[in-house]
Amino acid sequence: MSTVLAGYGLVKKYGPTTALAGVDVEVRERDSLAIMGPSGSGKSTLLHTLAGIIRPNEGQVLLRGERVDNLGENRLSALRRKRFGFVFQFGQLLPELPAEENVALPLMLEGTPRRQAVDRARRWFAPLGLEGLEQRRPGQLSGGQAQRVAIARALVAEPDVVFADEPTGALDQRTSEEVIRLLTSVTRASGAALVMVTHDADVAAHCDRILQVRDGRISNYSQFTVA
Ligand SMILES: Nc1ncnc2c1ncn2[C@@H]1O[C@H](COP(=O)(O)OP(=O)(O)OP(=O)(O)O)[C@@H](O)[C@H]1O
Ligand SMILES: [Mg+2]
Repeated sequence: MSTVLAGYGLVKKYGPTTALAGVDVEVRERDSLAIMGPSGSGKSTLLHTLAGIIRPNEGQVLLRGERVDNLGENRLSALRRKRFGFVFQFGQLLPELPAEENVALPLMLEGTPRRQAVDRARRWFAPLGLEGLEQRRPGQLSGGQAQRVAIARALVAEPDVVFADEPTGALDQRTSEEVIRLLTSVTRASGAALVMVTHDADVAAHCDRILQVRDGRISNYSQFTVA
């Protein structure tokens, strides 16, 4: 299966701190990869580097074989909007907008007219078990529902890769299980790859592969399923 996203020899330093000490990682088509490891080990730095949010000091990031880590800021942010989707722990929805407009936002930022963007956004509500909640504002949603709206928003522009940093960090175990099941299955069905940071082994077990990070290096790499 072909590689969608790859990082080679990634090094990231913050002053005296080496957050990434030379990481190689490849993410294949429809692959889901969980990044695990102790606090401060470099998980978020790795995710942000692969997502073009942080630039590495050394190494390369390639999207479908093309280098992206050295793009100018404008091209890089356009690439993030078009090719990547993001799900964070919490607080990512705009409180004043109904759920369907929150989902439509990435399309509207790309210039899709509002009505058309909302039409496309609505199609993601059923697969994520959100039917009937299109008009609710984030404050009127449960934590699990809000995360599912955030997943819909990450997928609406049909990205190549979805990045999630502790997407279930603020949820109880049962809700977390439900959200992660939908995140992995709907992302896979959409054709996107998934790169997710989690400290929860039950959550990571829903992914195809688990990458263990320790002191900015990969300490273990396991594969659950053979694609
Ligand atoms: N903007 C920054 N400035 C300075 N140091 C940073 C910055 N971001 C991260 N670091 C440092 O880099 C190292 C790796 O941080 P990172 O956030 O990647 O860890 P993490 O594995 O995501 O931890 P956690 O599980 O707590 O979220 C840590 O020592 C952290 O203090
Ligand atoms: Mg982190």
